[in-house]
This record gives sequence, C-alpha cells and structure tokens, in this order.
Amino acid sequence: MEVVIVPDAAAGGELIAEAMAQLLRRKPDALLGVATGSTPLPVYQALTAKVRSGAVDASRARIAQLDEYVGLPADHPESYRSVLRREVLEPLGIGMDAFMGPDGTAQDVQAACEAYDRALTEAGGVDLQLLGIGTDGHIGFNEPCSSLASRTRIKTLTEQTRIDNARFFDGDIEQVPHHVITQGIGTILEARHLVLLATGEGKADAVAATVEGPVAAVCPASALQLHPHATVVVDEAAASKL
Ligand code: GLP
Repeated sequence: MEVVIVPDAAAGGELIAEAMAQLLRRKPDALLGVATGSTPLPVYQALTAKVRSGAVDASRARIAQLDEYVGLPADHPESYRSVLRREVLEPLGIGMDAFMGPDGTAQDVQAACEAYDRALTEAGGVDLQLLGIGTDGHIGFNEPCSSLASRTRIKTLTEQTRIDNARFFDGDIEQVPHHVITQGIGTILEARHLVLLATGEGKADAVAATVEGPVAAVCPASALQLHPHATVVVDEAAASKL
C-alpha cells in the first residue's frame, strides 16, 4: 500500500484526477469506479477541469457505481445514481449508456446484486476504483465486520452511518434508508487499482486503522493492505494519527 500525504483536499483531488487522466490517455474506454459522499468531489471537479481544458478526453470513459440505497426511486435526488449523474457524468459529458450500477428499486434485490457483480466482471473489471471511507472504516457500504471476501449484496446500515448521511436528507435520519446495496469487499479488491481518499480530522482514526492496523473485518478498509496496487491519499488532518 502506498500512502500519499497531501496538504489539503484540493491537492488530493488534483493528484487523483491526474491519475485518472493518465489512465484515460492510456485506455480511453477505461472503467472508472466512483464513490459518493463529500470526499471525492474535489476529484470530480479537478477531472472536469482537465476535460474542459482539453488535457484529457473522457468521452469514451465508462463509469461504475460502488453502492446504492435500497428503495429510493432512481430519480430521487439523493439516490447515488442521481448523485453520480449530477457530480460525475454530466460534468464530464458522459452519457448514461456508459454507466453501470445496481438496481436499488428491484423487486428481487439479491438477484440485482448478483447481476451487477457479474456485469462488472463481464465489462472487463474496474480499472481504477475511487473509494472514500466512513468514520467507522467502511468502504462502499461494507460496514464493520463485513466479510473481507464478500460480493455485491444487500446490507443494513449502522446507526452511525445513518447519522453521518442524514446531512444529505435535510438532517433527518428518518429519511435515510436502512438498507443498501454495496459492492462486496472481495468485489472491490478485484479492481486493478484502488485509490482511497480521506480528508479531515474526523477520518484520522479510520485512516490509522486502515494503514497501520491489522487486516481485520472490524475495519473493512484494512482489506486494502491485501491489494497489490492500493494508494491511500490523505490530507494532513486525516493523516494526523499515523
Ligand atoms: C457513504 C458512502 C461511502 C463514503 C462514505 C464517506 O457511506 N457509501 O462510499 O465513502 O459515505 O462519505 P464522506 O466522504 O461524505 O465522508
């Protein structure tokens, strides 16, 4: 695992956007795995700036979703599909035909999970997976004690994650769904390059457990230690307990 400490979130965004740009120059139809939450936004902004300036062409890029709420209509503004359309696809000028994600509205959620897991493999696998991290060390929505070999499946959110995410639902935890679909940790580990971005002091404990703790299901992000090409980008605040 490579750990890169940057001065602030904007520098982290620029660094990762440049890694994505280099990948797209080498492989224009690369499959980029993207995450939601506040942390990755500087990455998407920096990559958008590169596309708009002509520094990179993202028109053939493909985008894969990491996780999704169960039961929110696809056009709900906080469904992760809507968030990614707004924050990633539209700014980069990538159409929904180049987007893949799990169906959080499916009648048979388990079948939808298995179908998405298979689709990722059939698409040739994720080239670069961008990850954030929860305050409890979760990646995607793999909460603590998720199997490190898990595949895409339905999970129940912890109270803490629902509290953390209530800010996207008018601060009202009652509106935060209880269930989600997430790529499993085993699924995530199949990406060719994993890039985790963590910023702010609130992530410092989770970052220390990820980088310096044992590989353990209690900190799902520690599974990155098992990956041959994992990069952890942290600002000075998130690195403060290393
Ligand atoms: C959610 C997402 C994760 C994300 C995490 C942290 O739980 N499912 O993919 O990493 O939030 O979000 P933030 O970056 O806003 O702290």
